[in-house]
Amino acid sequence: MCGIIGRVGYGDAVDALVTGLENLEYRGYDSAGVAVQNGTGLAVRKQSGDVSDLEATLRHDQPTGNVGVGHTRWSTHGPPTDQNAHPHTSETDEVAVVHNGVIENHAELRDRLEATGCEFTSDTDTEVVPHLLEQHLDGRDADSVSEVADAFRATLRDLEGSFALAVLVDGVDAVFAAREGSPLVLGVGEDAYFLGSDVPAFLDWTDRVMYLEDGDVAVVAPDGLELTDQRGEPVERDVERVEWSSEDAGKGGYDHYMLKEIHSQPDALTDTLSGRVNPGDGGVAFESLPDGAFADVEQVRLVACGTSYHASLAGARLLRQAGIPAHAELASEFSLPESADDTLAVAVTQSGETADTLGAVRAAADAGAQTLAVTNVVGSTAARECDDALFIRAGPEIGVAATKTFTSQVATLSLLSRRIAADVGADAPGDAGILDGLDALPGDVRDVTTGDAARAIANRYRGSDAYFFIGRGAAHSVALEGALKFKEITYEHAEGFAAGELKHGPLALVTPDTPVFAIFTGDGDEQTLTNVEEVQSRGAPVVAVAPDGHPAVDVADDHLPIPDTVPTCASLLAAVQLQLLSYHAAELLDRAIDKPRNLAKSVTVQ
Ligand code: F6R
Repeated sequence: MCGIIGRVGYGDAVDALVTGLENLEYRGYDSAGVAVQNGTGLAVRKQSGDVSDLEATLRHDQPTGNVGVGHTRWSTHGPPTDQNAHPHTSETDEVAVVHNGVIENHAELRDRLEATGCEFTSDTDTEVVPHLLEQHLDGRDADSVSEVADAFRATLRDLEGSFALAVLVDGVDAVFAAREGSPLVLGVGEDAYFLGSDVPAFLDWTDRVMYLEDGDVAVVAPDGLELTDQRGEPVERDVERVEWSSEDAGKGGYDHYMLKEIHSQPDALTDTLSGRVNPGDGGVAFESLPDGAFADVEQVRLVACGTSYHASLAGARLLRQAGIPAHAELASEFSLPESADDTLAVAVTQSGETADTLGAVRAAADAGAQTLAVTNVVGSTAARECDDALFIRAGPEIGVAATKTFTSQVATLSLLSRRIAADVGADAPGDAGILDGLDALPGDVRDVTTGDAARAIANRYRGSDAYFFIGRGAAHSVALEGALKFKEITYEHAEGFAAGELKHGPLALVTPDTPVFAIFTGDGDEQTLTNVEEVQSRGAPVVAVAPDGHPAVDVADDHLPIPDTVPTCASLLAAVQLQLLSYHAAELLDRAIDKPRNLAKSVTVQ
């Protein structure tokens, strides 16, 4: 949700800033801008539209400068106009600021600043920052890095809310940056430093990163870096090497990140699972978790949003199969009793930065719960704040619609459920044969991704009034996920239902123009077949997502095939078919598949 980039070194910064913004565009794409120091003042270029629009402007009007910042926006305060695009500047253009997060006391600060004669040019919360900094610079030597750093820290102390900030001050060869509640990572390159909301921002130049912590302030100059807290006391952070490469974060020859990410699921799942199951006794060991880590757990609450919530539903189901009380809960609706000493709260979050999920897991920690992050991003806020972190190892996901992280989350949660069961002395959960199923899963997913049924079905049902997805047991969460994916990137009306619930209301929506995708995983299939007959008798065409030879295939009008396996794995194979269905339906409608309207990948506001 908004991406920021900074580049500090020798040589020109603008191309690197623009590439960084392209790499961060999944965080927001309704306006973009850059600012650089070029010895004659701060040069700012910004406008509504996505990064390619900014690039078009820069082609005929490109400033130069060795130190710069950039921003790609997902609007929170004010519509996506040129004025509201970042960087925001102070009245004399002495200061330029890019910001991700929300300044909660912006209205009060704005009143205060306006009372001193400040004129605002945007509707954003961010614009208070350059004006405040300009006032704090008053009376100081604005060419001195240390005096500007003092003024910057004084500005930060005025702010309430969440922010990752990167700031330029005219005439000072440095970027001033701060992190408080919004992600900010520092890249340490051969001949330049980088700042980014996320590692892919600068993977083209370096894989050496420093994860800034809340409260950190960085003064980044071409010849060195100073890290302090907001009072100016020095802090130290380690430089770590990330395993992701720029190839992982590229499109790899596919038309869209989403298609690449769907096709990379066999490799992602191999990484997710590798080395975690003991082939001898089926025991599960995670590199980052000590033995017996969950021995005192009496109940599990999984908190998550969107696709990660759907993965959590699958995880909770597996835990309940082992007799462990477990619930998946929407993070934005989460509430707890005052004491949760017996509870493991699991934050399931691909990005590790989702504000609702962080809010829920912090509330759980305050109530005494043990906390665990299940996330894709090493160094993310969830990973750092929870007691323990378990990484799904899916590799970077750039497409806004989650695909490979969903399947890797469910695979990780299926291992986690075994591990918790072992720690508390419960029976191993899951379908009989789940370990064999997981072992075969990468190959089975490859069989699905190399098929072409989804494209033909997407074409056949193009133009329908609405699209419904039903499933029970292991297939229920995938019905919800299939519908979310479909609506998210096609903008068509789609809903997912527990198959048995259809007759309790939603059946009223079913007509000959509403195809119903029925998912069969070997878990309650007979009843789902009855539900299929109920919708067929109302004239709706049915597409069975089922193995070849399954009885549903004869009954249904169409078929999306999946390999025959245990229910948990079958549900993931169905999820992959439905990802492909959504992708092709969106492609036929010429939608912005990787950047669906109104959405951002990492939702860092509540
Ligand atoms: C949908 C999608 C979102 C995210 C949700 C949570 O395709 O990606 O629904 O799943 O915003 O994000 P994370 O997992 O980063 O917490």
